[in-house]
Amino acid sequence: MAFTFFFRDLPVIEKAVEHAVEFGSGRMRFKVWDAGSALGQETYTIAIVLAEKMGKFAFKNLRLHATDYDSANHFGEVVKEAVYHVDELKRMPEGILDKYFEPASKPDHYRVIQNLRDRVQFEYHDLLSYQPIGTDFCLIVCKNVLLHFQHAERVEVIKMFHKALLPGGYFTTEHTQKLPEEVSHLFDQVTPNNPLYRKR
Ligand SMILES: C[S@@+](CC[C@H](N)C(=O)[O-])C[C@H]1O[C@@H](n2cnc3c(N)ncnc32)[C@H](O)[C@@H]1O
Repeated sequence: MAFTFFFRDLPVIEKAVEHAVEFGSGRMRFKVWDAGSALGQETYTIAIVLAEKMGKFAFKNLRLHATDYDSANHFGEVVKEAVYHVDELKRMPEGILDKYFEPASKPDHYRVIQNLRDRVQFEYHDLLSYQPIGTDFCLIVCKNVLLHFQHAERVEVIKMFHKALLPGGYFTTEHTQKLPEEVSHLFDQVTPNNPLYRKR
């Protein structure tokens, strides 16, 4: 089972969302791709941070695509259901649980509210297919996935993300990743010490 949790590495997500929202403001469609989303904890974290930053009206334009290749564990159904055990929700910043979750029919479980669920779409996708799920993304988040790939695979996956982004769109990954030299000319690092890259 994939290791992940809600609000993991929040400062990186917040920085990425802050820049992407500024970039995408006024667009009819604000497209975000959470690549290697596991069971949706990261996806709904991104959705919550976006909801906090975008405002009610603009949030309706959000299309948040979550993808993972693990079909054996029914990730798609879990992400769509968006029901999580209370133990998973303990690290939430104050007020977030009440605002974005509601008690589920199962005891000790909460469900992400419909307003967020409606913005999220899950599909099975293998990053090593090197085929993007779409284009015109304002933001692509791919965290704690690239480290599992060979160098040459990482290069191809990042080229795929570059293709999928709008010019000026953003890509973020985990702190330990550096952009491989082969793709460093395709992006500008937004600030030193933060793994946020802007498509040239
Ligand atoms: C450690 S989890 C990271 C989850 C989340 N992104 C986070 O940072 O918390 C790694 C995820 O990458 C997915 N993954 C690994 N290889 C993949 C591939 N080739 N295509 C799509 N997803 C992949 C795994 O199924 C798993 O859900």
